[in-house]
Amino acid sequence: MSLKRILAAETPDHIDEEVTIQGWVKIRRDHGKLIFLDIRDRSGIIQVVVNPRVSEEAHSEASKIRSEFVVEITGKVNKRPENAINKDIVSGTVELEATGVKVLAKSETPPIDLTTEGYEIGEDLRLKYRYLDLRRERMQKNIRARHKIIKEIRDFLDKDGFIEVETPVLTKSTPEGARDYIVPSRLENGRFYALPQSPQQYKQLLMVAGVERYFQIARCFRDEDTRADRQPEFTQLDLEMSFVTREDVMDLNEKLLIHLVHTLMPGKKIQETPFPRLTYKEVMEKYGTDRPDLRKDKEDMDLLAFAWIIDFPFFEKTEDGKWTFTHNPFSSPRPEDMKLLMEKKDIGEILTTQYDIVLNGFEIGGGSIRNHEPEALRKVFEVMGYEDKEIEANFGHMLKAFSYGAPPHGGIAWGLDRFVDILQNETSIREVIAFAKTGEGRDLMMEAPSQVSEKQLKELGIKISK
Ligand code: AMO
Repeated sequence: MSLKRILAAETPDHIDEEVTIQGWVKIRRDHGKLIFLDIRDRSGIIQVVVNPRVSEEAHSEASKIRSEFVVEITGKVNKRPENAINKDIVSGTVELEATGVKVLAKSETPPIDLTTEGYEIGEDLRLKYRYLDLRRERMQKNIRARHKIIKEIRDFLDKDGFIEVETPVLTKSTPEGARDYIVPSRLENGRFYALPQSPQQYKQLLMVAGVERYFQIARCFRDEDTRADRQPEFTQLDLEMSFVTREDVMDLNEKLLIHLVHTLMPGKKIQETPFPRLTYKEVMEKYGTDRPDLRKDKEDMDLLAFAWIIDFPFFEKTEDGKWTFTHNPFSSPRPEDMKLLMEKKDIGEILTTQYDIVLNGFEIGGGSIRNHEPEALRKVFEVMGYEDKEIEANFGHMLKAFSYGAPPHGGIAWGLDRFVDILQNETSIREVIAFAKTGEGRDLMMEAPSQVSEKQLKELGIKISK
């Protein structure tokens, strides 16, 4: 007879009843004749006690069980005495007295310890066996918290008139300042797609298309050196709005950030609301960085110090003496600086509408009001020394689209991995990404990047130079 399965977390609602649970064996401990099993399922842990006096058969089966076996256990839910309550587990007020034990799948001895938080294990090994590493309670918490945050973002924005629109991953290079990942075309040998560094151009084209309020939980790809807060592919909450000013975009994002913390992280304290707004000049003078950690108490893991950084210079000089954008070529200057751009005067003095959002010393997002007038956008490219032909080849489609009535618009993108990482008090964004890559950009589990067959290369018209 098999009862309907319940979860570990539900067992306290079934005291004195017979129930069935299914899950993985976290630990088996033998105490004289008694065998204790900690069983893990998606809701948490339940302790099972297998007593030969209750069932000889169950006991004999349990004695063969090893860590990470998948099991089904039927038994009676017993209330624990007051002094045996374990507050660290979801079912700590009860334990299950087994009447039946069934092995659903055996497991080899896991190559990494899954009973600890895992920080002590070499990360390469954790990434190679990520499907095991994710079983640990800390990683389960992280991926579940990430889901909740994304769901809450979607619900909040949906209620506010936003729609989520997917944009292509096979596209054309976007100048976001990093190196592109490129994908060779089979049908047009010698031509390449680029993976998007962000959906920047598409979201602006959606504004031209009349969507007015767009967002996307978007995957972005940047071929840059990996760090604790950087991955070659990462996720943005990407957002764009029409008929708005800088204040409107900042207000909406501030509301959303506060809402997420209040609803999902009630233990966290936001240091200051409204979020302080500091100019680039101010923070560079005072803190020497444009992402200052403003926490008054840096020991407090639950303190969140958000701040907006505004009034960045639009352009900076490159090594070869040319001008380049500091953030985004599609940004508009501040309204009071538009004249300078149009006249291409005092370039270094032009400030942009860019706003960055920083949290506890990390830049968790950034955006701006855009140049919706094609002439102003063209001026940006001219300042950077692009020839007309180059402008046409790289940005012709944007200038053309803007010639058909582009609404004033602006937006932002959050580094979602970074935001979740900080909320979870984690040590790196890799801890909140299910299948993260190593510092060298490798996927150790899938063994990517990998070689491809001669046939594939031939189809793509590619020869590897030795
Ligand atoms: P930006 O390039 O500033 O803006 O990116 C937005 C946010 O994304 C996060 N981020 C990263 N996170 C993890 N790994 C990376 N390699 C990585 N690179 C960036 C940061 C950053 O603040 N299209 C514009 C946004 C806009 O103007 O609307 C953009 O992509 O937290």
